[in-house]
Amino acid sequence: MNSDLNRSQLVEECDKAFADVLGADLTVPLVRGGETRYVNLDHAASTPPLRAVADHLALITPHYSSIHRGAGYASLVSTSMYEAARDSVARFLCARPDDKVVFTRNTTDSLNLLSRCVPGEVLVLDVEHHANLLPWQAGSHHVLLAADTLAETLAELNRTLAERGSALLAITGASNVTGEVVPLERIVEIAHRHGTRVVVDAAQLAPHRRIDVTRSDVDYVAFSGHKTYAPYGAGVLLGRPDWLDEAPPHLAGGGAVREVRLDGALWAAAPERHEAGSPNVLGVAALAKACDVVGELLGDASAEHEARLRERLVNGLERLDGVSTHRFWADCTDVIGVVTFSVAGYDAGLVAAYLSAEHGIGVRDGRFCAHPAITRLGLPRSGAVRASFGLGSRLDDADRLVAAVEQLLIEGPGWGYAQLNGRWTPAPDLRPMPEWLPVGTNAVPRLCS
Ligand SMILES: Cc1ncc(COP(=O)(O)O)c(C=O)c1O
Repeated sequence: MNSDLNRSQLVEECDKAFADVLGADLTVPLVRGGETRYVNLDHAASTPPLRAVADHLALITPHYSSIHRGAGYASLVSTSMYEAARDSVARFLCARPDDKVVFTRNTTDSLNLLSRCVPGEVLVLDVEHHANLLPWQAGSHHVLLAADTLAETLAELNRTLAERGSALLAITGASNVTGEVVPLERIVEIAHRHGTRVVVDAAQLAPHRRIDVTRSDVDYVAFSGHKTYAPYGAGVLLGRPDWLDEAPPHLAGGGAVREVRLDGALWAAAPERHEAGSPNVLGVAALAKACDVVGELLGDASAEHEARLRERLVNGLERLDGVSTHRFWADCTDVIGVVTFSVAGYDAGLVAAYLSAEHGIGVRDGRFCAHPAITRLGLPRSGAVRASFGLGSRLDDADRLVAAVEQLLIEGPGWGYAQLNGRWTPAPDLRPMPEWLPVGTNAVPRLCS
C-alpha cells in the first residue's frame, strides 16, 4: 500500500466499485426526513447479487424444471446446469480431480454435514464462528485457545496436534469478527504432518481471496452463495471423497439412494448421498455463475482495492477519540475488509441504529455469532459494531461511516432511540417502508447475536 497516495488519487483509484452489484444505487429514507444513497457495510453477513448473476438467472429461469429424473427438454437443460455447477465450484476452488462437490444450503449446513463424516476427534480454535464450533460439539472434539499472536497460535496448534492426533482441524479462513486471514498453506502443512485433515470455513474467505485447494492441499472447504454474490440460497462442501462416501447421508430421502427396501436402503455415493430431496436448482446455478465471475475478479487488484478501503476506514476511525478497533493478533498481516470497532459511551446496538436511521449506513452490531471470540476480545455482551466491505464498496462508503461516527461523538444522536425486544431502534421510527410491502409491515427488531 502506497501511503503517499493523496486524497484525489485515492478517489480516482478507489471511489468506484470493483464490480457491478444490484442495489449499488439504492436510496433509503432517513429518520429525520429525506433520502440518501444506502451505504452497505454489511457484506460479511450477506452480499448483494452481482448484476451478472441476476442477469444470468433471468436468462435461465424459463428453462427451470425438475432435475435428474425428468425426461422433458427443460429437465434435461436444468440437470445439465446443475451438474455443470459442480465444475464451476471445482474451478473456483482449484480442486483436485477426485474432490466431490456437495450442494448444501450454506456454510452452516456444510459443516454440519461434515461433522457426521469425521472418524475421530475434531480440533477447533476458540475464535470461531458458531457455525464452526457448534456442529463439532455433538461429537468428539477439543477446543484450543488461540494465543495472543498468530505465530504462538500456530506453534500451539503444532504441539496440540502432535499430542492428540486429531482426525480433523476445523479452522476459519478469514474471521468474521476481525477479518484476519490465517496462513492456510502453513496450517495444512502442520496438520498433515500429524495425519490431521483440515476443513476451512471459507464463508468469509471465499468472497475475498482466491482459494487453491490443490496447492494448499486443504482437505475440505465450506462456503455460502449468499456471501459470495449469489444470495439465492445455496452453499457448498467440497473435499476428499472417502469420508463423504462412507458417512451416513446428510438427509435421508429421494435422490440419495440406489435401491430402497422396506427395511433399509442402499445409499448412493457422494455427492448424491447427501443431497436428498429436490435441490435448489436456481440457487446452485446462481452460485456457479458467481463462482465463474468472482473467480475472475479476485486477485491482487481486488485485494489492493479492499486494502485501501479498509485502511481508509481504520485510519479514519482510529483518529477519533473514543473509538477503538479490534483484532486478535497484532502479527497477522493479511486482513479482509472487515472492521470491528467500539465507540466509548455508546452501546454497539445504539451506534448501529443511529448509523442506519440518521445516515443510511448499514452495519452489523452484537456478537456476530461468535460469542467466545467476543469474550476473548474483552468486549461486553452487547458486542461491537462491524463494518464490512464488498466488491461493490467505494471509498465514499468508508468516509461516510467515519464522518457519521465523528458526528455522533461531537453532537450525540440527533434523534431518540429506545430498546425494543432488546434491540435499539429509533423512537419513533418514521421511515416509510417500500410501497410494495404489505401495508402495516414494520421491521421487527430481533434480539440476536
Ligand atoms: C466465518 C463464518 N462461518 C460461517 C458462517 C455461517 O454462514 P451461513 O450463515 O451462510 O451458514 C458465517 C456467517 O456469517 C461466517 O461469517
